[in-house]
Amino acid sequence: MSYSPTILILDSGLGGLTVLREVVNALPAARYIYVADDAFFPYGRLSEEDIIARVVPLVGELIGAHAPDIVVIACNTMSVSVLGPLRAAYPVPFVGTVPAIKPACAASKTKRVSVLGTRATVQREYTQALIRNHAQACTVTLVGAARLASLAEDALSGKPVSDADILSEITPCFVPAGDGGSLRTDAIVLACTHYPLLLDRMLRLAPWPVSWIDPAPAIARRVVDLLGPLEPNTAGDHERPPEMIFTSGRARTLTDALAPFFGGRVPA
Ligand code: DGL
Repeated sequence: MSYSPTILILDSGLGGLTVLREVVNALPAARYIYVADDAFFPYGRLSEEDIIARVVPLVGELIGAHAPDIVVIACNTMSVSVLGPLRAAYPVPFVGTVPAIKPACAASKTKRVSVLGTRATVQREYTQALIRNHAQACTVTLVGAARLASLAEDALSGKPVSDADILSEITPCFVPAGDGGSLRTDAIVLACTHYPLLLDRMLRLAPWPVSWIDPAPAIARRVVDLLGPLEPNTAGDHERPPEMIFTSGRARTLTDALAPFFGGRVPA
């Protein structure tokens, strides 16, 4: 590809930055627009109908304003609720972020996998269908975390977050071996894009070691597949800084702290 494509990335808040980081690594010469729909955060408490009613027109406005070549829905809660209606409404290619149940089950030796997501994500039929179709011989435990995404927002915003609060959200994922058995959980799907922001702390707090499955690298590969690799010397819009939009209109006090997610560039 000889031009610099525009990639629009949408989440309910700062969690989608964990997906953006991987896409920027794979395609540093693209132009990035990151949108945090923080006016409606957290999405994990919203019904499917509410999410469809909010996201379909919002994405329509964003497509009209920015003409992206591709839209990445960097939010599991949005993706499992509204990907179908988005694809039906707009001809732009969409890449969603959905719970990585298939790779987690493939990685698990004990065949005991937990899915850690928002309450909305673990309740959705989309997620149930992924388990029916891809869990194979695995026993899957669904864990809906009420506060973990908010804790991740706080941590990235420099507010104190206690170990006890994180631990109480992740503890239900760790299912011990049953009577006399040795088969305990050994893989946990990070089914909310906010959670990798707390990965260091979750690694430290985990009652035993597990594989934490983050779909972000696979999403970046999917974006590359759809756009094709960019020529290394592509100029195009690369000189234009990445843009960050908060739908709440909140003051952008965090831009320096967020630069590492944008490949070291400070978003406008
Ligand atoms: N980052 C979002 C996800 O992947 C959800 C956080 C929220 O708004 O509840 O599910």
